[in-house]
Amino acid sequence: MSVMEMNLAWLRQAAATDRAPREPAAPSRADLQADAQLADTAPHIVFSGVGKTYSGRAGQTHALRDISFGIERGRIFGIIGRSGAGKSTLLRAINMLEQPSTGHVTVDGIDVGQLNENGLVTLRRKIGMIFQHFNLMSAKTVRDNVALPLRVTRRPTHDIRQRVDALLELVGLSGKADAYPAMLSGGQKQRVGIARALVHDPEILLCDEATSALDPETTQSILALLRDINQSLGLTIVLITHDMSVIRDICDEVLVLDGGEIVEQGEVWRVFGNPQADATRALLRPLRRELPDDLARILQPTPPAQGRAVLSVHFSGSAHPDGISLQNLLAIAPDTRLLHSSLERIQGHAQGDVLLSIPVAHLAALHHAPFPPDTLKILGYVHEHA
Ligand SMILES: Nc1ncnc2c1ncn2[C@@H]1O[C@H](COP(=O)(O)OP(=O)(O)O)[C@@H](O)[C@H]1O
Ligand SMILES: [Mg+2]
Repeated sequence: MSVMEMNLAWLRQAAATDRAPREPAAPSRADLQADAQLADTAPHIVFSGVGKTYSGRAGQTHALRDISFGIERGRIFGIIGRSGAGKSTLLRAINMLEQPSTGHVTVDGIDVGQLNENGLVTLRRKIGMIFQHFNLMSAKTVRDNVALPLRVTRRPTHDIRQRVDALLELVGLSGKADAYPAMLSGGQKQRVGIARALVHDPEILLCDEATSALDPETTQSILALLRDINQSLGLTIVLITHDMSVIRDICDEVLVLDGGEIVEQGEVWRVFGNPQADATRALLRPLRRELPDDLARILQPTPPAQGRAVLSVHFSGSAHPDGISLQNLLAIAPDTRLLHSSLERIQGHAQGDVLLSIPVAHLAALHHAPFPPDTLKILGYVHEHA
């Protein structure tokens, strides 16, 4: 029996008896090996046909419709979508803070909808959660805030203190153990939130807009901490954000929700380099300022006799993932000028847009440009000096 199966049996027992079950026996080496193999192949979290309907006085809201996808163990998985798209509902179905109306969510192969109270307690210890507004107790010190979830487990005070202090060190707050939340910056408060979310050694961390109340610099430091935790503790992280740069900077995969449905999903560089759904394009717009303002102002729709055509070339990261041939860019036409570039590297793939201008007289050369036609676009025309 693998460790996963043993835990499963244990949770099932918890679900069946509604009594606190005994701890499972320590796994043998063979169990651990079998477990590692299973863990390599089975997704950590699976949604199968999940729907959620809220009934209110104004009628029914379909917050989620037929959601099916999997999240691999150890990944950083991003969820994006407009406000009201169903992101929080989806995230909260993982730890059963929301009970789906239809379908199933499994964590480690366990149908979390079938768990009884004890099973849910065990599940929620495996799943930490952090929030936009930190949810700290203002009358308690940093140490007591982090210790809170451990108090109910009746562990010896000495153990609790050791555990909490180790966590405070992990999140870079060793010197603040006796401070109160009001004395902390936003970034420090979120570090307390992260330490508290980790007290039970969870396997999954859920983050609902965890950096949305922070300035860009602090956001970067919290993202670095999350990345660190993901790598050092092997945690699976599922995060919601409206900040596309957060997805770009730390996620492996992204799922786009719109009106409660999945409209797009995949590796971040693929989705960002070549977004298919309108909702995805709309969300990515702030990241992709296609045309700098000064150019937008002088751009004309028709070619002047002595002018230049302004072109954009889009690189999705798939044709030449590691870099872009300058020779190809220059080969588009004689006297090619580079105007602007928004290239960036996502998961090791160079992607973005390059703006060029070429003399109108050489527009015919575009037919022989060494780029797929759909990556080349004429944005407009300018007079010779541009
Ligand atoms: N407890 C609730 N009761 C009724 N409607 C809800 C409740 N929670 C969420 N909703 C509705 O479900 C939809 C999805 O909400 P939510 O998951 O919070 O979206 P998001 O996190 O993407 O902004 C919205 O239309 C919202 O108004
Ligand atoms: Mg939300």
